[in-house]
Formats: sequence, structure tokens, C-alpha cells
Amino acid sequence: MNYQPTRLLVTGAAGFIGSNFVHYWLKENPDSRVIALDALTYAGNRANLATAEANQNFSFVHTDILETDRIEQLIRKEQIDTLVHFAAESHVDRSIHGPDAFFKTNIDGTHSLLKAAKRVWLDDPQGCRKVGQLRSSCREGEMAHRFHHVSTDEVYGALRHDAPAFTEQHQYLPNSPYAASKAASDHIVRSYHHTYGLNTTISNCSNNYGSYHFPEKLIPLIIVNCLEGKSLPIYGDGKQIRDWLYVEDHCRGIELVLNKGRVGEVYNIGGNNEWTNIDIVTLVCELMDQHHPKGVPHADLIAHVTDRLGHDRRYAIDASKIMDELGYKPKETFETGIRKTVQWYLDNKNWWCGAMDGSYQCWLNSNYE
Ligand code: NAD
Ligand code: TYD
Repeated sequence: MNYQPTRLLVTGAAGFIGSNFVHYWLKENPDSRVIALDALTYAGNRANLATAEANQNFSFVHTDILETDRIEQLIRKEQIDTLVHFAAESHVDRSIHGPDAFFKTNIDGTHSLLKAAKRVWLDDPQGCRKVGQLRSSCREGEMAHRFHHVSTDEVYGALRHDAPAFTEQHQYLPNSPYAASKAASDHIVRSYHHTYGLNTTISNCSNNYGSYHFPEKLIPLIIVNCLEGKSLPIYGDGKQIRDWLYVEDHCRGIELVLNKGRVGEVYNIGGNNEWTNIDIVTLVCELMDQHHPKGVPHADLIAHVTDRLGHDRRYAIDASKIMDELGYKPKETFETGIRKTVQWYLDNKNWWCGAMDGSYQCWLNSNYE
């Protein structure tokens, strides 16, 4: 039976994927209401949501996911039936320099949201009954609800060059503090379903790219450094492999899981698109040569730098389950997605200049020197 979210709380909505999700959702589901929540850390930018602000079905709440009581009140007041949880510390390199924030936000923060959701949807659903009809997937006395947790392929660890891609059955073997914090949060979400009967779903997605991507991550960093004539740092030999998905295709996958996914299940999301880092950087350089020529090839800026500690060699997602069970298919090819992305950064210089404030410069200095 299909589930139709009507009033969504989207955490981490001012970040890269969260903001893309808000735009995608409002476009595809114009009758539903979206409350965007974000603590506006260095990675959160209200400007990412600027075009949604005029929509009467949209509103923004500035708060931290650790504020359990505030979240509970918000779910009650806004009569939320669906929580889509993106908020996280998300950058592996930062997790190596300072893991504490990752464990606090990603583990305690996720637990805080689960507690708030459980109080409203399971412990005291009476106050909210008027907004949600009972559905066949709900037990007697319970309102229709869904808690969707957005996670990563990094929880599965690293793959050998010739190993099959990660399925949902792959053992959890997280290697970085970031991956470990996401793995822990996945387990906590699972426990809230198994123990308390909260209607949860989890998606584990491969590396995303697209608009509003903070320029500390590989693809936007390379584009912005090309535009600024700065060196293009490649960790180690650059032969590490990532599986790239255009961000809107990730949003489309989450929508499918919300609508058709089975409660308590985990779905991998990916586009079967593995690239070595050096090949990605070379491709971006070629696109920059076409769209923003500067006389000499941008690839001349490539510089191999000290490798990341504990660098995972390869990630790859097997998305057969979501494809076969829910009919998922990415719309964008890598060729079209990467062109759109490069063009977006060329057209939105104000956005990325604004994101690169003083704290960003401090981060660059500490990571690359
Ligand atoms: P991001 O760093 O761009 O955005 C994270 C957002 O969360 C920011 O807006 C930040 O302000 C907010 N936030 C951080 N701590 C918060 C707190 N305590 N309370 C409220 N808000 C807080 O990250 P992203 O790349 O958009 O990733 C979003 C989610 O998707 C994360 O859970 C991440 O693990 C997952 N994911 C990311 C990728 C990827 O390639 N980027 C791939 C798979 C899964
Ligand atoms: P990143 O975008 O940080 O995503 P993740 O670590 O979550 O996969 O990095 C993607 C790949 O690019 C990863 O193998 C690390 C590499 N990388 C570099 O070679 N140089 C850089 O400056 C950065 C930020 C990443």
C-alpha cells in the first residue's frame, strides 16, 4: 500500500542534499507542507532555500536536532506525519581532524529525533489523531507516520577492486569516524523500529554531486579551484574509486522509498557509476577548458598531496533492490549531470564565494598544509 506524506519535517534542509530535496519535493508534491529545520552550521546556508521561501507551503525553523523537546513541540504544532532526516556532520576529512561533533550530531542527534518522534507518534498520538488517518500499516491507536533516515554507503567499509558492489546484506564495517557515526545512527533507527514499532525506513546512498554542494568535497572543490586558478589536490595516487549519483536522483530515490518502501526496510540508492578520483578530476578539467578556457589546460593545476588517513579505496552500490522492488531508475547520466553541475557553479559565483568565509579558509589551511 502506498504511503503519501502530507506534512514533512526535513532536517539538515539548508545543506547540500537537504536543500535539493526540499526543492525537489515542493516541485513534485505541490500540495504537501514542508518544514525545513537546520542548525545552520558552517555547512548550512539559508541561501540554499531562497527560492522555496516564497512558497506558502514552506517554512524554515532554525534549531538543533539535539533539542528533543523543541522538536517534539514542532512535530505536534505542525502536525508532522513524515520526518526526513538529513542533518549530519558529513565531511570525512573533518571527522578525522575532530570526531566529537560527528558522534554528537550524527548519533545523539539522530537519537534525539527518534525520541521526539516516538513521543508524538507512538506514546501520545491522541493529540495528533486529527491529522493522520489510521492506515493498514499502523497498529490500533497509532497515527500514520514515517521516519526516513538518510545514510551512506560508507557504513559498509571499503571494497577490493574486484569485489561485488555493496548490497543491503553487506556487513557493516565503517572505517572513518564519519562512517562509524552514520553506522551507529543506522543501528539506532533500526532498534526504534524493531523495539517500539516506529515506522522507519533507511536509505544508504553513494557519493552525490550537483548544485549547492559545499566546496570542501571533491567535485565542487575542483570546480571552484579551477575557477580561482588554485591547485587541484588529489589525495595519494588518485586511484580511489567512488560511485557518483546526481543529487536529484538521490531525492527521487528517497521519494520512492517514502511512497512505496516497506516499513523497517533498508534501500541502497546508486547509479552504477564508478570513477577513480583522478579520472573525475581530469574530466572536470576538460569541461572547464571548454566552458571557462584560460589559455593553459586546467589539468596543469593537478597536484598529488598527502593521502587521507585510513582512506577507503573503493565504494560501489548495488541498487538492485530499489530498482526491482520500487522501480527506481536514475534520470541523469553522468555526462549530463556533471555538465549541469559545472554550469551551475559557473552561473552561481555569488553562492560559492559566500560559502567560502573565514572559517572555510581556516579549514583549507589545516587540511592541506
Ligand atoms: P551537508 O554537510 O551539506 O549538510 C548537512 C546539514 O545538516 C547542514 O545544513 C547543517 O547545518 C545541518 N546540521 C548539522 N548539524 C546539525 C544539527 N545538530 N542540527 C540541525 N542541523 C544540523 O551534508 P549533505 O552532503 O547534504 O548530507 C546530508 C545527509 O546525506 C547526511 O546525513 C549524509 O550522511 C548523507 N549522505 C551524503 C552523501 C553525499 O555524497 N554528500 C551521500 C550519502 C549520504
Ligand atoms: P569527498 O568528496 O570528501 O567524499 P567521500 O570522502 O565521502 O567519498 O571525497 C571523494 C574522494 O575524493 C575521496 O576518495 C577523497 C578524494 N579527495 C581528494 O583526492 N582530494 C580532496 O581534496 C578531497 C576533498 C577529496
